[in-house]
Amino acid sequence: FSSILYTTCNPSDRNLTILLWHWPFRHSFSLKGDVCWDLYQIPYCKLVDQRSFYPTADVVVFHNRELIDGSQRLPTHLPRPQGQRWAWMSLESPNNNGNLRRFGNLFNMTISYRRDADITVPYGELLPVETEEHLVEDRRVNKSSLVCWVVSKYRSHYKRSRVYKELSATVPIKVYGRWTNTPLSSADLLPTISRCYFYLAFENSVSKDYITEKLWYNAYQAGAVPVVLGPSINHYKAVAPEHSFIHVDKFASIKDLGTYLQQLAGDKKRYNEYFNWKKHWKVKVYSDWRERICKTCLHYSRLPQQHVYSDLHAWVNTNNGQP
Ligand SMILES: *[C@@H]1O[C@H](CO)[C@@H](O)[C@H](O)[C@H]1NC(C)=O
Ligand SMILES: *[C@@H]1O[C@H](CO)[C@@H](O)[C@H](O)[C@H]1NC(C)=O
Ligand SMILES: *[C@@H]1O[C@H](CO)[C@@H](O)[C@H](O)[C@H]1NC(C)=O
Repeated sequence: FSSILYTTCNPSDRNLTILLWHWPFRHSFSLKGDVCWDLYQIPYCKLVDQRSFYPTADVVVFHNRELIDGSQRLPTHLPRPQGQRWAWMSLESPNNNGNLRRFGNLFNMTISYRRDADITVPYGELLPVETEEHLVEDRRVNKSSLVCWVVSKYRSHYKRSRVYKELSATVPIKVYGRWTNTPLSSADLLPTISRCYFYLAFENSVSKDYITEKLWYNAYQAGAVPVVLGPSINHYKAVAPEHSFIHVDKFASIKDLGTYLQQLAGDKKRYNEYFNWKKHWKVKVYSDWRERICKTCLHYSRLPQQHVYSDLHAWVNTNNGQP
């Protein structure tokens, strides 16, 4: 794992125009002023949502959800301006992206959490800290629960549900969320998790690079050691320091995992080693669509001259969960 420092490289001194065709989930935000610069210090990047910019936009961004639910359509009846790129954008796992077979040969680029997308917009990432932080002496202070989990959607066929059931036969697990009728308000979420030694950052879908705020926010920000289930260990290692999480796949059995957690919680030195990464890294969680879309300008000059996703469905559904 190493962080890549992006330098702004849009060598042309003209402003790129990025047109957001419709807002994700119908929730719009202000685009007043020079948003990409004012909020994120990304220069030469004009983000707009008025469709009258279509003829001059360099990139038109389409959020997938509204395309597949039929509430929005691609402007395939309009001639596409020379050089304009259409971007397909989604942060969902493949099984929530619907059937994309009818979207072949339309999109020139992808905006997704996938590391191999044209524009990678992860749920979170680690940034180097400027000055070494004073490390807390013992992270176990204030902790009262061994393992915690927050789950709103429990589906018995999810891999994570099976692992939860097996694990709860070995160690006590405190469960919060809608499933158990113990929802946590956003203000209570991190303080609650911070009282747990371990947090089950279990993804609902096991797919390539699909690592969500369950790791970045719920676990890392709260100061609980994440027990992760999702893509393979290598996917996690590519984006997170090795000794910062515990991957379910590392254990021969879920019982072994439970035993490991119990021993670790009782061992001050070994438990605290799981926080050593905080000396060098701080977590950045992404939540604003504007920031994600502005990022297009940072990488624009590195896009292939000419490219079309001839089979978007295959690209989206590729390599699920594989290393
Ligand atoms: C780019 O946009 C900024 C902010 O709106 C503006 O001040 C500047 O004049 C524009 N530059 C060019 C070359 O159009
Ligand atoms: C423990 O809780 C106290 C009171 O809420 C807080 O001030 C302190 O920073 C916490 N310590 C750790 C290590 O989280
Ligand atoms: C974008 O895709 C369209 C549709 O296949 C294609 O005609 C166009 O040449 C592509 N543009 C770029 C810049 O790749």
